[in-house]
Amino acid sequence: MNTPDLSAYKSYRGLPPLAGLATIAEAARPCLSITECVMRLKRLHYAFVRLHEILTARITAEPIYELKSAFSHQAYICAEHASALRTRVGEMREPPLGLDEVPHEGLQVFFDEILAAPTTAELLVGLYHHAFRTLWESLDRYMDDTNPLCDAPSVRLCRFAQMEVEDIRVFGTQAIACLVDESMHAKMLGWDETLTSCRLAAGKLDGVGPTVAPPERMYSAKPYTYDPVPRRDERFQDLWNQGVNPEAFLYDPEFAAQPKTLMMLFKRIREIDVPEMLASIIHQTKGKPWKYYRDMSRQLWDEARHAMMGEVGFASLGVDWTQARISHNWSTRLNTECTPMERHAVLFFIEQGLMTRTGKRFEWEVGTASGDPLVKTMQDFDWADEVLHAQLGREWYVKEFGDLKSALEYGDQCWSRVTSNWANVRDQGLTSHESWWPVIYSQACRTWGITPDPRVLAYATTYETQRADLKAVSGSA
Ligand SMILES: [Fe+2]
Ligand SMILES: [Fe+2]
Repeated sequence: MNTPDLSAYKSYRGLPPLAGLATIAEAARPCLSITECVMRLKRLHYAFVRLHEILTARITAEPIYELKSAFSHQAYICAEHASALRTRVGEMREPPLGLDEVPHEGLQVFFDEILAAPTTAELLVGLYHHAFRTLWESLDRYMDDTNPLCDAPSVRLCRFAQMEVEDIRVFGTQAIACLVDESMHAKMLGWDETLTSCRLAAGKLDGVGPTVAPPERMYSAKPYTYDPVPRRDERFQDLWNQGVNPEAFLYDPEFAAQPKTLMMLFKRIREIDVPEMLASIIHQTKGKPWKYYRDMSRQLWDEARHAMMGEVGFASLGVDWTQARISHNWSTRLNTECTPMERHAVLFFIEQGLMTRTGKRFEWEVGTASGDPLVKTMQDFDWADEVLHAQLGREWYVKEFGDLKSALEYGDQCWSRVTSNWANVRDQGLTSHESWWPVIYSQACRTWGITPDPRVLAYATTYETQRADLKAVSGSA
């Protein structure tokens, strides 16, 4: 057969052909079948699901705040791409979908090993040097090998996924350069080889190569156990401190909006305890529909973002936030004393409270009244996120109870159980509840160019008798 010269093909008046997807020549070459596409897409899906699991599982006990925040973001991204791939596989003549099956034991061991990485350094190398890199390559290969016209819906997903995986890889490369030195790399050479062997045993992540039995497990030889105890890096000090009650200040009409913005920024950065807690719910709640994990991960990421808003707000005011006491009291107690359902109840109860007149709208009004456009913007988005969270809570928590009233009562009871340790932690010598307020307020006053107001400076209400919703006897969200 004489092959026609496809480059000579002319579209109408030189318009881009094929809706701009590809050239005629690109769309006319032999490509993957549906069966081959589904096999590869399922493997990509498996990778995103496992990466979501690993990143979520490692948020709570990872001490470094920048990593906690990044894991929160990346877990959410993986959940979104897993969702998109599930939908796509369902469009490809594939019932039953078999999306919960393990594509190859080598891949299972590969991800199990990364989940069980004993140090932050190994976790970073496993995640970014191995997993996200091979995922990027597999997405690239998929787009090279599939038909850009016939399989346009998959190509669209892969393009978007590759863009975000690229961002994650760049983050990871920088994180490894900052935190993993030569000697650390040298110590993990054996494990590094195990990860490579696992991947090769599986015929690479996307199954394009020959497959063999995986190598011996190393770190995952013993089943992984989740660590629910929140840890923080050395910038976070005095972790049981409940020496300043920011809510009581915020709702006191005697105080002006400007100093109240500092209390709101403190409340924002303190929200790093919410991802610590939410990660434990997600990890320890098994067997839910995939959408549950996607929705909860969205909320987790939002809360990490709220914490970072606090960080940005303080930085913009020249305030050293490490001088505040960003407690882990709430997440530690919930993670170690409550069941996942009880934790969810507490979170829902707090977030419903934020939907009232004195909740997120009030914080936005204070931000607006303060004249600080950054705080106003942050509270605007924080408010919108919390409205979403209240909806997600109704979807995934209240339905377990059947009605809102009993769901709220249960949340209230569970919260009361873990809020009254003010005297306990002081008596155990864990904190003296020292007030951080004068230092933070004075720093901001320097930036504002004002003399501290003595009445504001002297604010000394603690959490001893009032909890964060101003009911008798700290809470986040
Ligand atoms: Fe929230
Ligand atoms: Fe929040």
